[in-house]
Amino acid sequence: MDRQKILFVSYTAVLGGGELCLIDFAQAYRDTSQVVLLTDGALRQRLEELGVPVQVLASARSLADVKVSSGLMFSLKSIGELWRIGKQIANISQDSDLIHANNQKGFVVAAIARLLGGAPVVWHLHDILTANIFSATNRRVAVTLANWFATRVIVNSQATGDAFLIAGGKRQLLRTVYNGFDSQKFDQISDDQMHLRDELGIPRDRPVVGMFSRLSYWKGQHILLEAASLLTDVHVLLVGDALFGESEYTEQLKKIAAPPSLNGRVHWLGFRQDIPALMKACDAIAHCSTAPEPFGRVIVEAQLAKRPAIATVGGGTGEIIENGVTGFLIPPNDPQLLAAAIQKIFSDRIATAQMVDRAYLQAQTKFSIPSVCLAFDMAIAGIN
Ligand code: UDP
Ligand code: GLC
Repeated sequence: MDRQKILFVSYTAVLGGGELCLIDFAQAYRDTSQVVLLTDGALRQRLEELGVPVQVLASARSLADVKVSSGLMFSLKSIGELWRIGKQIANISQDSDLIHANNQKGFVVAAIARLLGGAPVVWHLHDILTANIFSATNRRVAVTLANWFATRVIVNSQATGDAFLIAGGKRQLLRTVYNGFDSQKFDQISDDQMHLRDELGIPRDRPVVGMFSRLSYWKGQHILLEAASLLTDVHVLLVGDALFGESEYTEQLKKIAAPPSLNGRVHWLGFRQDIPALMKACDAIAHCSTAPEPFGRVIVEAQLAKRPAIATVGGGTGEIIENGVTGFLIPPNDPQLLAAAIQKIFSDRIATAQMVDRAYLQAQTKFSIPSVCLAFDMAIAGIN
């Protein structure tokens, strides 16, 4: 079977989870396909390093004024901009079997491209379309466009798919494709990362709990800091930056970490690329989303790093962790329960080691790059 020609379209080029997921599929299709970015950023460089043909549509810069931070909201002027970029994408897509839109703005542009004679559109939906994040109007616009113009909607978990259906999306469009991970990137790193702890000034005998998420209220770093203030010797590693401008939240976190009880126990690392090594420098990894997480890449990464993961219930986390079997699932927004789960991990070392082994095996098979690429191939089969 000939590989399809895909025009991957991404509005954002910041390295968030959705973009890291895109890298794997674009790499798998790099011999026949290309990526068009509507903004420039670190994603372009990563794709270039991997030999994926990529171009930044400079004329799309004006889309920055089109508001999507709280979903999809269009003024007449922005509709004009979207229309113009949609026309360009339609032209570029003439040589492709399909357009793969990796985010909401990218999808709106792709839907317009389809309307103007462009290739069939696959929307890769990485978000849970629920009321606490997207207004009713935004959900209606997104789902109506999907029902009219998308040939398929790929979702990153069943939970994301369920929310799409509840918002009015058509079931026959849906295909679930999980994120994929290369376990070798974790296996090739030594399990002993004590030197990293030394560099960070963390005493070797102290328990370390890491969080590997962009700094955002939704990701819930404050919950981990509050839990740490209940556990007198635990050190916290905060890896990640405020990728989408949540600077107020960062200030709030600094205030929570300031009192003497936490002082010196919270380590701010900013955005890092050496995730496997940093995970192995931790004893446990927490994922504290305050609202349902669509998938949660860092949970699988923790499992591949052979570190116990604690995540909050809701969204796709239940498709990665079976509570007590491959990690711990706790209710969101509850620092006390998080502190109790952390204590349990450190007090029952044998049960924790068994849990970690089971989680590693599951992550290696269920979320391997070949298995998710196969699911991706099947999801787009027959489209041209
Ligand atoms: N990540 C990273 N550097 C950091 C913090 C996070 O590369 O400093 C990666 C992390 O390893 C994961 C992704 O960013 O692969 C975050 O994806 P996830 O699905 O967990 O959350 P998102 O931010 O996409 O909602
Ligand atoms: C989005 C979601 C995250 C998911 C990632 C990759 O960033 O917020 O939960 O893991 O996409 O699909």
